[in-house]
Formats: sequence, structure tokens, C-alpha cells
Amino acid sequence: MKNIIGLNAIGFNTSACIMINGKIKAAIEEERLSRNKRTRLFPEKSIEYCLKSCGLQINDIDAIAISWNPLINLEKFDKFQSRNLSYLPNILHAALNHIIKNKEINEKYFNQTLLLKKKKIEIFFIKHHLCHASMAYLSNFSNSGIVTTDGFGEKESSTLSNFKNFKINKINENFFPHSLGAFYSTFTEYCGFTPQSEEWKLMGASSYTKNENLYKKLKNLVELKPEGKFELNLNYFNHYQFHRPNYFNSELINYLNIDPRQNDMGPMSKKYFDIANSAQRVFEDVYFHQIKYLKSISSSQNLVVSGGCAMNCVANGKITKNTGFKNIFISPVPDDSGACLGAASYLVNEIRNQKKKVFLKDYYLGPSFSNKEIEIKLNKYQIKYKRIKNIEKHAAKEISTGKIVAWFQGQLEFGDRALGNRSILADPRSKRIKDLINKKIKFREKFRPFAPAILKEFADIYFEENQSSDYMELALKFKKKVISKVPGVVHVDQTGRLQTVDKKYNLKFYNLINEFFKITNIPLILNTSFNIQGEPIVCSIEDAIKNFYLSGLDKMYIGDFEISK
Ligand SMILES: [Fe+2]
Repeated sequence: MKNIIGLNAIGFNTSACIMINGKIKAAIEEERLSRNKRTRLFPEKSIEYCLKSCGLQINDIDAIAISWNPLINLEKFDKFQSRNLSYLPNILHAALNHIIKNKEINEKYFNQTLLLKKKKIEIFFIKHHLCHASMAYLSNFSNSGIVTTDGFGEKESSTLSNFKNFKINKINENFFPHSLGAFYSTFTEYCGFTPQSEEWKLMGASSYTKNENLYKKLKNLVELKPEGKFELNLNYFNHYQFHRPNYFNSELINYLNIDPRQNDMGPMSKKYFDIANSAQRVFEDVYFHQIKYLKSISSSQNLVVSGGCAMNCVANGKITKNTGFKNIFISPVPDDSGACLGAASYLVNEIRNQKKKVFLKDYYLGPSFSNKEIEIKLNKYQIKYKRIKNIEKHAAKEISTGKIVAWFQGQLEFGDRALGNRSILADPRSKRIKDLINKKIKFREKFRPFAPAILKEFADIYFEENQSSDYMELALKFKKKVISKVPGVVHVDQTGRLQTVDKKYNLKFYNLINEFFKITNIPLILNTSFNIQGEPIVCSIEDAIKNFYLSGLDKMYIGDFEISK
């Protein structure tokens, strides 16, 4: 089995990747190409990109691995689960077709064979949480504990497993509707944000205030059970009703005695910051309860965290302190977009027993454009530009004089984290910079922080804990003595969601920060994704041009070209 396509084709954030001889060669989210944020569209354009980037056609593919097993949704299950059936009609149709031929249901996966232009392509539908857990194959660990936590898979909402000898062994699971992801989404919606999309806004808002009474109230909604399990008090939630108008219900409103916030209500008041803080604290209580149990029965010091909840970098930054695990791996795409990587990895290792560690360090897996291609487009749209010799040095100088710049270089990142190829960059020494970017460029809420990208070798000088965070997966505390030097990237709780930049994996971005360091003696810059609110991160040259002119950006560095306003 040489050429494999991995897909996340169900739910939000559809995506595709291509694996050749056990190596991931390309990956992209459909939203980057369709320009429809968090799209549910089948990842047709993503498949096309993956094939094209490897010079292949669909009949060169040997197998397709999909991160969902719809047969599981056909089992007889409890009243909550049975309501799912009407929610997934397309899968139901495909699965019914198959179930006629198969009497026994394999919990882990099922496969079909497609005959395409005389070529047999095997299609594997793999259990969702097994795909999340398979991110362990992408880590550099040979053994680890694994926790997967999200809204829901087919039936599961979280799993605990051990990883050893190229095998994932599940220890236990928590079933939907008792779901940590759904708990967090409920309060995301309660505070006026979009559930299953804007959870990071709730996380950003969670650091401002504290209200012990409200925290206790929210804590009472979740019961921690033995063996890392938990149950929600379902009387207060609506997420398991798929015809739901909302995640929360009137019982929850009465219980909290706070009206849900509408998004057009203007700036958030204290009571919603209190809700955000309480929800975050309860989230962490459950998260660490799961992980601590895993540690108590695991001999490994290593932990892989995956599933949508692993996007919570505030909680991630506290894992080592709270759970006993020493080394943490969280990919930059732990959510469903990244499940396509897990699906392909599961297929080669667990189904085909090929024992192929798919270790992936570099997540720059999307499209890139040559200087020639960029120049043709700039001429076509009659945009004035300058070709610059040492663009890193030039951009660093502009940033150090207060300019806010767009940085469009190399291959697009896979995942929601801007890792220095499609980024907006600015001077972290400025106190005003956060408000300025929020207002003029991102058009977003004032309370949201911006992340620091720091030269890897300086991370322990600036942060209290010496942990690598190559993919912005952790929020760590700044050392007190440096806070006044970089106020633009210090959140109200004195943390920063850092990216440790390694010259081995992104030399251009490293050089840019190093040039900034030579000018300012500060080895870090403010780095946020190159997009404006409501839009996916830019992918093409045209996306970059549109976002540049629709925002208050001062300069754009695209390939070797500088564009000014
Ligand atoms: Fe998931």
C-alpha cells in the first residue's frame, strides 16, 4: 500500500492529506481553498490539491482512510444516540448499502472497495477517536499515554489509551452526551460566540476575572467519576438534541440567573468574563482528572493529547504541573482537521501492520508560490511592488519602527496556528499594538491576546517553564523581569501562547526574528494569523492581496516582494 489519501469528510473542518510510503507529503483544510470558514463541504478541492502537489491522479491512489466509522451509528443504542440518525443521512445511506453485505460490525473500522478506471481503491472508515489517538504516530515518542477529547466521535467523547510497540491500546472511554467539548461549547455560546468554532474567544476571555460562587455552580454541573470518567448533569444542557436551537436550555439560564449574551450586545460585561473563567476552570478540572488517572496507570513519562479540546492552550500549559507527565506532544492540528493524518497513520500501522512511524515535524504542507508566479500576479493586478534582496532584514527593520506587516512565505501551514508562513507580525515592545491590531486589522474583540514567536534558544530566558511549544500549543507564564519589555504579547494573566521557532524547521522565519533581535535586543515578535475576522487564513496570492487591502496593514512581504500602502 503505497499511496494513501486521508480524509476528514464529516462535520466541520473537512480536510485531506496524502501519504506516500508512510510519509505525509501534503495536507490542507477545505476552508483554505473554498474560503468558507469551518466548512462542512466534502474536501474535494483539498484532494485535488494533494494529488496535484504529488503529481498523482486519483487512480494512482491505493487506499483512502476516512476518520469516521458510520456503521457504529447503526447499532442499537440508547435514546440519546438514536437521535443522531436523522443528523447523518448521507452516511446512513452509504453504510446501509454496506451493512447488507456484512453481518458483523467491526467496532474499529470497516472497508469497501471502489473500482475506478479499472483500479481497485480500498476505502477504510476508521473510528473517529482512534484517528485522534493515532496522532501518537506523528509524535517522536516510542511509548506514551494518549488522551483524546472532543465534542463527540461516533459515540465517544473522550478516550484514554496507551501507545507502545506501534500499537494503540484503549483503556477506557467516555460516551456522548457526557462531553467536555460540548460543555465548553455550551458556555462559548452562552457568552455570545459561535459554538464549535469560537471556543478560543471564551478561552481568551477566561483570564480576566474570577467569581468563586459561579465557579462552584458550574462545577456542580459535572460529576467526576472513577477511572478518569465524568458525567454532565444533562438537565442543564441541550447539545444532545440535534434539532436544538441552542446548546444551553432554559434550566441553565434559570440556574445561572444570567441572560445569555447576544453577539451584538457590544463589549462583554464582567458577568460573562466570570462565566468564561468558571467554564475554563471546570474544563481544566475535568481535563486533568482524565490525564491524572491515565498517569496513575501508565509507566510512560510521555503524553499525546488530541481531539478538539487539545486546542485549549491555556489548559495545555498546565498539564505538566498538574498531572505528572513530563513530555507532551500536541500537534498543531489536534482537532478534526488533523484527523485525516490520524486516519492514514492508523491504516498503515494498525490495519496493515507496517510499523511506520509517521513522525512529522514540519506542518508546512499546503500550497506555495514561486517569485515568478507572485510577480506575474502583482503585474496582472497592477500592484506597485519592490523586489528586496534580504527580505528578512528589511521586514525586521520595518517592524522595529512600528509597522504592522503581513508575511506570506513558503508553504501554507496545516492547522489553525500561524507558524510563520501566513502571519501578521508586529513589534511586541509596544503597549498599544494589541489594541491597534484588534481594531484596525483583525476587527475583533479587545480582550483577545496575541502570541509571541520566540527564537527557541531564548525560551527559557523569557518563560518560567522550559517547555518547547513549536506549534503554539502551550500558554506559559512569562518571567516577571521580562514582562515590561514585551507588553504587546503578555496576556492579562501574564502568560503568552508561545511558538518556539527552530531554525531547522523554518529558517526564513527564524532569520526574520533574529534580525529583529539584532536591532532591538528582543528575540521575539508578535505573530498572529494572516486573516481578518470571519475569514480563513489566506492561502493564495489573491487571498493575501484582498486581506492586505481590506485591513489596516502597513506592508506586505510576499515572496521577495514588498508592497506598501
Ligand atoms: Fe473529533
